[in-house]
Amino acid sequence: MQTYIPLAQIDEAAQEVRKRTLHKPRIAIILGSGLNGLADSVQKADLIPYGDLPHFPVSTVEGHAGRFVIGELEGQTVLVMQGRIHYYEGYSMAQVTLPVRVMQRLGIETLIVTNAAGGVHPDFQPGDVMLITDNLNLIGMSGLNPLMGPNLDEIGPRFPDMSQAYDRGLCELARKVAKESGVQLREGVYAGLSGPSFESPADLRFLRLAGTDAVGMSTVPEVIVARHGGMRALGLSGISNKANLDGSTVTTHEEVIEAGKVITPKVEKIIRGVLRGM
Ligand code: HPA
Repeated sequence: MQTYIPLAQIDEAAQEVRKRTLHKPRIAIILGSGLNGLADSVQKADLIPYGDLPHFPVSTVEGHAGRFVIGELEGQTVLVMQGRIHYYEGYSMAQVTLPVRVMQRLGIETLIVTNAAGGVHPDFQPGDVMLITDNLNLIGMSGLNPLMGPNLDEIGPRFPDMSQAYDRGLCELARKVAKESGVQLREGVYAGLSGPSFESPADLRFLRLAGTDAVGMSTVPEVIVARHGGMRALGLSGISNKANLDGSTVTTHEEVIEAGKVITPKVEKIIRGVLRGM
């Protein structure tokens, strides 16, 4: 397992992408579990399976297709990750976040991240969409930060600031778009864990006490790497299930994929509006 990816390898992967598309995207969108549909709306799309890119990890999870879709959406040139790689698949944090490094070398300035998450806030219901206003980096606090290893000085600082991980201007735009398109937008703190086991009731009560509104197994490492590289980030969580703080219900991956069908059109409306407003 490669725990550190040198710039030369990042650039080899970026060069392979450049060979396969004439588009010059400035905005990237990562689509989470069950939220893949938006990639099919990209016009003049060039499709690049992760398996064709040197050093790239390949996603193994159901509901994650595993390719870059590069083309046009709502008047913007975008790079969409249809399917992401998770730490729990057995890759290193550096491998999991390599796509974000490659985006940065391709000139991406804005990253829109989506995920499926468990609703920990008592008011959140399956099918809700939450604007991520901040995150709890639990996976990082336990020593798993994607910036471990020698710093890539050409890309960013050794100790990057995370005080505004989710860009305030983009959050404001997302709120405005949601209001205009009649989508109820929740807001809150996303806690990033490794998974793949779902949380125990005690885990969830702990997370709630710590200020968690939604919990999931992705996003935080990607946003850290994006911020390290100076990108702006916008995060949206689709609430696929109610977190089970008292142990009275079970959580399944099928439920996550099923909820994606309700969530996708809402997330899509917000992303389309944000793209138009940028
Ligand atoms: N916990 C963690 N990750 C998730 C959940 C959850 O309840 N739902 C969707 N992804």
